[in-house]
Amino acid sequence: MVTRRTLVAGNWKMNGLRASLTEVAAVKAGIGTATCDVAICLPATLIAEAASQAAGSALIIGGQDCHPAAAGAHTGDISAEMIADAGGKLVIVGHSERRTDHGETDALVRSKAEAAWRAGLLAVLCIGETEAERRSSATLEVLKRQIAGSVPNGATSVNLVIAYEPVWAIGTGLTPSEGDIAEAHAHIRLRLTERIGAEAALTRILYGGSVKPSNAVAILGLDDVDGALVGGASLKAVDFLGIVAAAK
Ligand code: PGA
Repeated sequence: MVTRRTLVAGNWKMNGLRASLTEVAAVKAGIGTATCDVAICLPATLIAEAASQAAGSALIIGGQDCHPAAAGAHTGDISAEMIADAGGKLVIVGHSERRTDHGETDALVRSKAEAAWRAGLLAVLCIGETEAERRSSATLEVLKRQIAGSVPNGATSVNLVIAYEPVWAIGTGLTPSEGDIAEAHAHIRLRLTERIGAEAALTRILYGGSVKPSNAVAILGLDDVDGALVGGASLKAVDFLGIVAAAK
């Protein structure tokens, strides 16, 4: 039987000042010997301090985006190498807020995932349909297109995690039905198998979009759901730890 270690990853987005690092400390203290992987993806300003706080614990610190290049004239951007240098171990790429706010294409997301690997980071690559795409029954087609376009050659279960995040479920309190989540995840695994072969069976596929302690047990218990990417509910350690506790 294939086993995939559950990953619960928080995404603080553009939230958090240095004073908020007490929440990171509380998560570190709260996970103890958690039987799943636990990560928090922080604003760039907090990565180094959080990583030094988390050193020696099971808590993984990550970034939320990286530029494809290692260095250069790209004002305001941050490279995967900088995240790694600050102590980060993973980076989110292709989040729908980046795709929408910054016009990121599948090709750009793909190059960002490659940049993450170049720096030795795990890439958490986000895909998901918009509300209009779901309404027009295009969800599975969109997921297929995003996997074909944004997963680089050389992807393995060690360097890649996919996060399925329906855009309309992010920050809205809405979630797809359990059947719809299971269908999307099974479809993603099928398309990933076409893309990267047998490694797809070992690759973690997270669900993201309005995950909270009260729905985490049901969502994390679904077939082919190997963890969660959590926005709003990751900002408070007590909520985030409630989701970690629900992980199988
Ligand atoms: P949410 O965000 O949990 O606040 O819906 C999820 C995400 O965007 O990763």
